[in-house]
Amino acid sequence: MAIILDGKKLSQEIRKKIKEEIDLLKEKVGRKPKLAVILVGNDPASKIYVKNKEKACESVGIEALNFHKPSNLTQKELEDLVLKLNRREDVDGILIQLPLPEGLDCRRVINLVDPDKDVDGFHPVNVGNCLIGAYEEELMPCTPAGVIRMLSEYKIDLKGKNAVMVGASNIVGKPLSCMMVNAGATVCTCHIYTDDVKSYTSRADIICVATGVPHLIKPDMVKRGAVVIDIGISRVNGKIVGDVDFNGVIDKVSAITPVPGGVGPMTITMLLLNTLKAYKKRNTLT
Ligand code: GUN
Repeated sequence: MAIILDGKKLSQEIRKKIKEEIDLLKEKVGRKPKLAVILVGNDPASKIYVKNKEKACESVGIEALNFHKPSNLTQKELEDLVLKLNRREDVDGILIQLPLPEGLDCRRVINLVDPDKDVDGFHPVNVGNCLIGAYEEELMPCTPAGVIRMLSEYKIDLKGKNAVMVGASNIVGKPLSCMMVNAGATVCTCHIYTDDVKSYTSRADIICVATGVPHLIKPDMVKRGAVVIDIGISRVNGKIVGDVDFNGVIDKVSAITPVPGGVGPMTITMLLLNTLKAYKKRNTLT
């Protein structure tokens, strides 16, 4: 029987602890932690993600400041907003929801965010810290951090394991590959130019998938007893599905994340944790 890695339940437990810590700290600091959320344009999926993040913030006592800007916002206006938020003493975290509308250069904007307020962990300084493995003190990208935390909570050790990361994005695939290496796994990263992905996944003890291709991972691509982490999320005929054929692989795997209710809630929980971390660091509470 496969273990279902319940990101929703685990998130609730972690969020309870975050709330308790914030309740204590806000008396000392004299204010709640504050996260500035920048959303440019009207992409429906981004609007839902941002709303969920803001709701989660409120539930643990983090104040979310919403900066919803029109899609014709200029690069200069966006950069000025980031610089203004960098200077604000009362803002602990800055999140720029991606993707940005066409014409805006996200790399240039991210590079301007104060690394100490970069709760997404996307600034090159934090990407470098991720590579080095300085997790405790630093701001790590939320989805990979959520996966590592979930594996750790379920006592799934990465040391000496063969791990495959399917997907090589800057947000998930590359940092998660790196974090799995730091945890002692032998990691192979597959991407769109990889020939015969199955030849890699079928040998792996741990398979992480973040491609956005619904049901890409089929039973014949999975070794018996493998752990499968599904980071994909797509809508097919009105239903939310992941990158893994969950029903097809469930009898083969030893543990698997569901979609929804697996990695998704953990990502938001790590955002809350990063905001708390930034707040503590900026108020010298660590
Ligand atoms: N778009 C998709 N995933 C993310 C994320 O983790 N952070 C931000 N800011 N935008 C995203």
